[in-house]
Amino acid sequence: MEEYQYSAKIYDPILFPFIRPIRNKVISLVKKYQYKSILDVCCGTGDQLKLLKEQGFEGEGIDLSDAMLRIAAKGEHAADCIEQDATQMHYENAKFDLVMTAFSLHEKSHASARKIVEEMFRVTSENGDILIVDYELSDRTSVLSKALIYFIEWIAGGEHYRNFNSYIKKGGLPELLSGITLTEVERHYFAQHGIVLVLFRKV
Ligand SMILES: C[S@@+](CC[C@H](N)C(=O)[O-])C[C@H]1O[C@@H](n2cnc3c(N)ncnc32)[C@H](O)[C@@H]1O
Repeated sequence: MEEYQYSAKIYDPILFPFIRPIRNKVISLVKKYQYKSILDVCCGTGDQLKLLKEQGFEGEGIDLSDAMLRIAAKGEHAADCIEQDATQMHYENAKFDLVMTAFSLHEKSHASARKIVEEMFRVTSENGDILIVDYELSDRTSVLSKALIYFIEWIAGGEHYRNFNSYIKKGGLPELLSGITLTEVERHYFAQHGIVLVLFRKV
């Protein structure tokens, strides 16, 4: 059974209040840097792409979940999302100006998450950008935020929860990206320092 079969329909309504500021920040960065070609890796319901489309920015997305992709295809600003494995993308090298992924890396095994970031790097153009949103738990993260994040991930359960724990223990994003040559451009924190958005440039 696929992980998002039942949760796909409630994913956006439940997470909307927490995620909306992050979605808005992505929109403001797209406006600031005026990307012409955007790929949302593990795009889920296509929520970010729909919000970008509302603002006049076109992008495409890939995901493996039929349930998520069905929702992405709905609505006035239906997202252009297709079924494709992020660990082995079909795109040619250097195709996109901006390649982003949100809340996807922490739930994968280390090997899959590493393959995804390598593939993101491969399909990003020279001087193009990579935007990653995920958890970052540190001394600066509030107790409430930590508790909520652990609770959400515990509810997700099974392999998802094991991978989340391993992601956090191994050191999250910095460890996952080790050896990949990227320059940090901007960093923003959300959810009382529990979630980080990092914009990197491939230079
Ligand atoms: C937590 S959701 C995040 C969705 C979206 N990025 C967001 O910000 O709401 C993670 C998504 O990753 C997708 N996914 C998991 N493994 C994948 C893979 N190998 N290739 C493409 N998508 C994958 C899942 O189907 C799910 O939709």
